[in-house]
This record gives sequence, structure tokens and C-alpha cells, in this order.
Amino acid sequence: MKIIMLGAPGAGKGTQAKMIAEKYKIPHISTGDIFRANIKEGTELGKEAKSYMDKGALVPDELTVKILLDRVAKDDCKNGYVLDGFPRTIPQAEVLEEALNKLGDKVDYAIDVDVPDENIVRRMGGRRACVTCGATYHIEHVPPKQEGICDKCGSELILRDDDKPETVSKRLKVYHEQTQPLIDFYTKKGILKTVDGTVDMMDVFAAITDILG
Ligand code: AP5
Ligand code: MG
Repeated sequence: MKIIMLGAPGAGKGTQAKMIAEKYKIPHISTGDIFRANIKEGTELGKEAKSYMDKGALVPDELTVKILLDRVAKDDCKNGYVLDGFPRTIPQAEVLEEALNKLGDKVDYAIDVDVPDENIVRRMGGRRACVTCGATYHIEHVPPKQEGICDKCGSELILRDDDKPETVSKRLKVYHEQTQPLIDFYTKKGILKTVDGTVDMMDVFAAITDILG
């Protein structure tokens, strides 16, 4: 099963993608997490990605597409995957479609986690992310057992550099301009499913599993 998660920054794509990956035993692939891991390791890719991410801009398609196609070619992706944060532009969606076409394959579902902009800004300031495993918490909704420490791997939890309010507004603008057109793109392909992302995260997950079966 190949699934794409769509939705504004902070809509809960990562939260839901993790649960989907566990239930359906497929890898969770987040381009944002891949970039953050590279930033942490100080790689050239990380340095380049950071210069865009800190401004709330998208990393150029050329760079992002290569990373994604390398990742989905790995052995653990044979039975499918859930993509979180990719595609984010029409050209990215077209490259993915073409790569899958060549394998006689296709995306099965594009799930749009729908949350209005007003809710997003409130959510982001409370988010904390693990620097090592990418697990996500929220100081009110999903607090870690011990403040500042990841439940899963014991590493430090941070407020992402791009979660400052002014950067969040920029990311929302970029989302509406460059990513929202994908909703139309996948509607036309007949695979778009929309879920209400404003309800409790377990209820969002229940709506998703109803769709995926
Ligand atoms: P990325 O890491 O993908 O960030 P994003 O899309 O902005 O999304 P977020 O990770 O911020 O939010 P999310 O939807 O995963 O929400 P989460 O589950 O954490 O990308 C970062 C940057 O990398 C981009 O800006 C860009 O520069 C670059 N990039 C990445 N991919 C790219 C690409 N393909 N092309 C070009 N550039 C790319 O939830 C948010 C918070 O809300 C959490 O605290 C969570 O606990 C809480 N929460 C979740 N669900 C609920 C709920 N139902 N109720 C209450 N709280 C909830
Ligand atoms: Mg995320």
C-alpha cells in the first residue's frame, strides 16, 4: 500500500503517518525528518536544506526528489510506504508518478488531513520534536513522560527552528501557494480522501483506518 499524507504544516501528517506505519507495517518516510537528520549530522545536504527550511521556504525540487527516489528504492519499501511531506509541489508529484509508472505501480491513497490555519499557529508553538528519532510531542496534548526527553529513545526534545510564529506564517503561505494544488491533482486521479484533522488524534486515526481498511 502506497499512501501520501497531505496537509498544512502542523496538520498532524507526521503524527498520523507514524500510526499508519505501525499498523500496516510499512515504512514512514518524511522528507522533513530526512533533512533534519542531515542538519544534525552536519552533512552538505543538511547545510543546504537548512538555509531554506529556516526561512520557511521549500527545499528545491531537484534535491528533494533525488533523496525521495533513493529512499523508496530501498528493500523495506517493497510492500509500500507512507510518505509524509512529499510530494509538496506539482513537479514532485509528477516525478513520483512517473517513477511508479515505470514500475507498473501507483499511489493508492492521498490523505488530506484538514486543519484551518487558525488552529495551526496555536499547535506549533507547543510541539516538541526528538532530535534523534523524530518522534513528536505536544506540551499540552501529547506530553512526554519526562519533560524535554523522548519517551522512545531518551534523546533531547527541541522546539524546531522553523516553529517560530513568523516562520509558521511563511510556511502556511508557501503551503497554500505550492502544496494545496496537489489536492486538485489527486482529486482528479480519484484517490484523494479528506479527514477532519481538528478532532482528537485517535479519532483522526480512526477515520484514516476506515478509509484504508
Ligand atoms: P516537514 O517536516 O514536513 O514540516 P511540515 O509539513 O511543515 O509539517 P510538520 O512536520 O510541521 O507538521 P505535521 O503535519 O507533521 O504535524 P505533526 O504531526 O508534527 O518539513 C519541514 C521543512 O522541510 C519544510 O518547510 C521544507 O522547507 C522542507 N521540506 C520537507 N519536505 C519537503 C519537500 N517535499 N519539498 C521541499 N521542501 C521540503 O503535529 C503538529 C503538532 O500538533 C504536534 O505537536 C502534535 O503532537 C500535535 N497534534 C497532532 N495531531 C493533533 C490533533 N489531532 N489534535 C491536537 N494536537 C495534535
Ligand atoms: Mg511532520
